[in-house]
Amino acid sequence: MDIATKSLRTLRTGKTLDDLIKRDTREVSLAVLSDEELYQWELENLFAMSWNLLGHKSEIPDANDYMVRHIGEDQVIVARDRQGAIHVSLNVCPHRGMRVALGEEGNTPAHKCIYHGWAFRPNGDFIGAPVEKEQMHGALCSKAELGLKKARTHIYGGLIFATWNENAPSFDDYLGEFKFYLDMLFNRTDNGLEVLGAPQKVSMDCNWKCNGEQSGGDGFHTLTLHRFLIDTLFGSTEGGSDPADVAPAMYGINVSANGHNLRCIPVEMTFAMARDMNATQMSLAEQLAKLPPPGITQNLVPQLTKHLSDKQIELLVKAAPQVGGMFPNIQLAFVYAPQPDGEMLGGLGMHIIVPKGPLRSEFWTWLFAEKDCPEDIKEKMLRSSIQQLGTSGLIEMDDSDVYPHMTLAAKGYKGRKDMTLKYQAILGENKPEGWPGGGKVFAGFSKDDTQWEWWEAYYAAMNKTYDY
Ligand code: FES
Ligand code: FE
Repeated sequence: MDIATKSLRTLRTGKTLDDLIKRDTREVSLAVLSDEELYQWELENLFAMSWNLLGHKSEIPDANDYMVRHIGEDQVIVARDRQGAIHVSLNVCPHRGMRVALGEEGNTPAHKCIYHGWAFRPNGDFIGAPVEKEQMHGALCSKAELGLKKARTHIYGGLIFATWNENAPSFDDYLGEFKFYLDMLFNRTDNGLEVLGAPQKVSMDCNWKCNGEQSGGDGFHTLTLHRFLIDTLFGSTEGGSDPADVAPAMYGINVSANGHNLRCIPVEMTFAMARDMNATQMSLAEQLAKLPPPGITQNLVPQLTKHLSDKQIELLVKAAPQVGGMFPNIQLAFVYAPQPDGEMLGGLGMHIIVPKGPLRSEFWTWLFAEKDCPEDIKEKMLRSSIQQLGTSGLIEMDDSDVYPHMTLAAKGYKGRKDMTLKYQAILGENKPEGWPGGGKVFAGFSKDDTQWEWWEAYYAAMNKTYDY
């Protein structure tokens, strides 16, 4: 596997990746949001070769539980075996190509194809075909060769990832320096997170990268597209006041590593409650007791010290990573969710955008709580989160308004030929003195830096060559 410095492929349009992604001026051709051939290349180079998020282990808690998910446009069966291990197999019957699991989820010790009855174990192994004595699977292949195609699988913080690429970097290498930050969200308590119900799904007429690149850390649009949120939290901005003055959360510390990113937001910038705490006079333990990180309840505070380093806890308390994404198609929101009665809850959400062709996508939303969080708090977190996130959420309704328009614009002749996405607002790397974590750090007003890092990761991943 090699990374080319110049794009090796030329599309039928005559364009190379270097024509589409102009790294000197930080522009990306709008054509990337509609080009069919580029899309097929993404299925090969990004989705088939990278680690894909499929769900959370708490969705399939029991032996023989399974769910149907996607690696790019390929359906996969994610199943738990009797020993508790989780397996990911291509949902395509090796006999004549029928889908094996037809539902979205269920529980079965044997996945049986409805066409001619071939059956498979949760780990994908071939059990047999009907009329065993007649050996209806033939004699040319052994049973061991007739199982479902198996993916390489990794569980991180309860999240299930898989790839077809046997030579893909280890999951730790895929995370790189991002792991320090991500562990603060997914690996911080004894029993970890659990899902609050099934994931929500919604279809959108948009290219998957509309959300992919926004997940690269677009803080900018919160000032305008999500303006109601600022008005609700900080008072009306109508009358011409500068939204930046009433959106202090725009001043944060953005971190980028391997195309992944998180935005650490100093808590006293956001909430009067935090400012009133006069945190400089308080110990970390006192701050944790008064305003724990999003999703952490008082009973869980002692567990943080078991799982995280002092530096991680300090960052989590003072400037928790709250929004961000993982390359290529994961979005994270682990945010404080203030309630009308003054109670401070957490809203823990995660999305993926699943490609369904160059002009169509499916947007998935999972909501979480810490497993050992009190049940009444989980209830409130669920109610509060579904008002904000996913299909019913006020915030993401805004986002789903713009993606289809961008995609339509990319279909037009002039639009795809001449227009570019621009990432020219540059803050630059400026890691604050004593910053505890690695990666590229951009401290200050959120600009286009981490989103451009997302495109750099895209460029590098698309330019790798593989033996398919
Ligand atoms: Fe599945 Fe024939 S296609 S058993
Ligand atoms: Fe948004």
